[in-house]
Amino acid sequence: MSERGSKWVELKIRVNSEYVEPIVRLFNKYLSGKVYTQVVDFKEDDNDPNHLDVEIIGYIVSDDKISEYLTNIEVGLKLFEKIFDISDLSKKEVFSDTWEKQKFPPISLGNNIVIVPKEEDKVDFQDKKTLVIEPSMAFGTGHHATTKMCIELLDIFIEGEESVLDLGTGTGILSLCSLLLGAKRVFCVDNDIEAIYAARKNFEKSGFISEVEFFHGDLSKIPEKNKNFDLVLANLTSNILIENFDHIFSKISENGIIIISGILDIRIDEVIEKFLNGHLKLLKKLKYDNWVSLVFQGI
Ligand SMILES: C[S@@+](CC[C@H](N)C(=O)[O-])C[C@H]1O[C@@H](n2cnc3c(N)ncnc32)[C@H](O)[C@@H]1O
Repeated sequence: MSERGSKWVELKIRVNSEYVEPIVRLFNKYLSGKVYTQVVDFKEDDNDPNHLDVEIIGYIVSDDKISEYLTNIEVGLKLFEKIFDISDLSKKEVFSDTWEKQKFPPISLGNNIVIVPKEEDKVDFQDKKTLVIEPSMAFGTGHHATTKMCIELLDIFIEGEESVLDLGTGTGILSLCSLLLGAKRVFCVDNDIEAIYAARKNFEKSGFISEVEFFHGDLSKIPEKNKNFDLVLANLTSNILIENFDHIFSKISENGIIIISGILDIRIDEVIEKFLNGHLKLLKKLKYDNWVSLVFQGI
């Protein structure tokens, strides 16, 4: 059943970066994938190890299950509170059209791309290519550090004519940038139906609808025939990346490239260790605030 047009509750909580994953897991259990994290108040000279530097934001649909799910989340948070510091949980009612009315300024990403929220904003950005990403419930306007770094990396690693697999496509932003930079075909995957709707709309608007195929479902369930991609993109979380390493790795062609993002600095060693399993080499690492993105290549 589509969740479009429905009422939602936005949940927000702050925690130290070391303890992000347990809360993300708890939220994910009840929030069907609509969970995002952002680094707040980051200061290079911040030496307080317990500083609540990451905000976790989740959206839960307001249906007959909401009070049961909220109670379960609150019970889980109470247990976590005994082990580590967390802020109070804030709750706010929101409607789907709240996302559509969001305003964000044009943003220049990498050396070649400017993202704008509306067709009318497509003014002259000199020799840069412009992409319209409409505000929606899906993640991916280009303003988050994890997305920005992926686009910088696409600038470097897209040479032309690649087939690209986009795991957790959100608005489709990374796939659309890949096509703008010269990729030939993209395959977009997301387990959130709102993301698939938003991405399809953005592809239609950008004139790239015949270069894309969509898969709505978990990345571990992509049909076997969809493999041998020249480049795989995965802007997810450290846990999802580690747990799905085999699925991600099985999708690249020989010498294919994997760009991963959404990794908090504190988890970097674990992620690198999992990905350097003898079949991949590390080509590049980017860091912004507390976030890291990595590029691997099959060997
Ligand atoms: C951080 S957003 C990235 C969006 C966009 N690619 C970007 O870079 O801005 C992660 C996306 O992955 C999706 N996602 C999370 N876990 C997933 C899974 N196991 N299988 C498929 N999609 C998943 C979420 O619904 C969300 O749209």
